[in-house]
This record gives sequence, C-alpha cells and structure tokens, in this order.
Amino acid sequence: MKLGRGMRLPVIEAYGLVKSYGSTVALRGLNLVINEGEIYGLLGPNGAGKTTTLKILVSLLKPDRGHVRIMGIDLHRYRVEALRNVGYVPEDPYIFPNLVVREFLEFIGRLRGIPRDILKERIERYLSIFDLQEKERDLIKTLSRGMLQKLAVISAFLPRPRVLIMDEPMSNMDPEAQHVFKEEVRKLVRNGSTALISSHMLDMVERFCTRVGIINKGVLIAEGEVDELKRRALGGEDATLEEVFLAVVRGG
Ligand SMILES: Nc1ncnc2c1ncn2[C@@H]1O[C@H](COP(=O)(O)OP(=O)(O)O)[C@@H](O)[C@H]1O
Ligand SMILES: [Mg+2]
Repeated sequence: MKLGRGMRLPVIEAYGLVKSYGSTVALRGLNLVINEGEIYGLLGPNGAGKTTTLKILVSLLKPDRGHVRIMGIDLHRYRVEALRNVGYVPEDPYIFPNLVVREFLEFIGRLRGIPRDILKERIERYLSIFDLQEKERDLIKTLSRGMLQKLAVISAFLPRPRVLIMDEPMSNMDPEAQHVFKEEVRKLVRNGSTALISSHMLDMVERFCTRVGIINKGVLIAEGEVDELKRRALGGEDATLEEVFLAVVRGG
C-alpha cells in the first residue's frame, strides 16, 4: 500500500484557538494541522493573526481558548518537552545586542546541547553560506535588519530541529539570502523536519511551500496544495496564487 499524505503524522496541531487583545479579537477559533515533512505556508493580510498564531504555537502567548500539540505533546501541560525540538524565528528578532555574533551562536549551540566540534563546523558553514563571515566578531547591535534576520534563522537551524516555526523569515533578506534560506529549509525537511512559515510573499510561497493556508480575521479560510487552491477558488490552474489570495480574502 502506498503511504499517502493523509497517513503522515501531525507535527503541529492547533484546535479552536481564540485570542483577544483587549477588545481586539485576533483569533476566533483557528484550527491548524501541519503534518510531518510539510513546508506549510501560512498566508494572510496584515493583522490576520499570523504572528499571534505562531506565538501561541511556541508558548510566547497563551490562548484564551483552544489547545496545541507539538509532535503529539500537549503544549500547555508539557511546555519544555513539547518545545524541545522546535526552532522559532520571531517576526522582529530581538537578540542580545551586546553579544558578538559568534558568541551568540556558540551560546545557542551549547544551550541546545550540540557537541563542540559539530557546533563549530555548523557555525562556520552557516556564517559562510549566509555571507556573515565578516561579521562574526561584531556586536549584534551593529547588524542591519537583514543580517539580524539571517542570524535568527541560523540560530533556529543550528540544532537541526524537527519543527521549524518561522514568522516572515525572509521579509528583510536579500535575494541571495532568500535562496540560501530556501535551500536549507528543503534540506532540513528532506532529513525529517517540518516547517511552518508565515509570509505575505505570495510568489515565494507558490513555488516553495508544499501546502498553503490562508488566514483572515483570525480564522483559516482556505487551505490546500497550491494547485488545489487554484482549482477550488477560481476554477482554473492558470490563476496565480495572488489572484486566489485576493479572491478568497475578499470573500470571492
Ligand atoms: N500586543 C497587541 N496588542 C493589541 N493588539 C494586538 C497586539 N498584537 C496584535 N494585535 C492585533 O491582533 C490582530 C492580529 O495581529 P497579528 O497576529 O500580528 O497579525 P499578522 O501577523 O497576521 O499581521 C491585529 O488586529 C493586531 O492589531
Ligand atoms: Mg505578523
């Protein structure tokens, strides 16, 4: 029997997430299930609830209602265990400004229990492919936004986590870094990781993600493989994901 997509294990599960900030309702019953081996693109207009969702998934925010499981582990009951194999890239990475780039990566690596020689090798490689070698002795507060984003991504990749949760990770990267980023994510996924990426870069998501969810006003309003979404939303595969996105978000 062929092992179908439906038989893959769920890695990230969120059910009935509700979250308000004062009188602003950011999530109103969001369900999201991401399976092993997917590169899942979470799309949505500004304010749709992407960042809120991702923060809940890594326990930086507590939902008012709903629950989350990561690799089958209940996030609220077993936070440390559930997040042990998760790499997170925040929307606005804030990294110790007075640490030196390499010190920070060594610190993260030790925290994650990576053996010294492997850590050294991985740091060298990531600094090289992301073109940060010349910055390795610089203070983090002197980095540009794009460099900071690359550093946040490297620190998430470093332990080769089973689960990657990344909030608009490419928004400040130059095209070369975006290319390197995508190659590395693909490589991690080939080796057993699963990735959730929020983005508003539709053309990137269209070519890069294996499945896409569109969130609007705190609920998932469409989901599927890119081709499938095009067929369902517009009755034709000639449409671009941008057209599908606009149709779905406008309620078309
Ligand atoms: N700290 C906060 N305080 C008040 N409102 C917030 C806060 N964070 C987000 N929001 C609101 O929640 C909604 C969802 O925001 P967010 O999750 O950041 O969306 P996205 O990442 O899709 O742009 C928006 O209306 C936003 O203004
Ligand atoms: Mg956001």
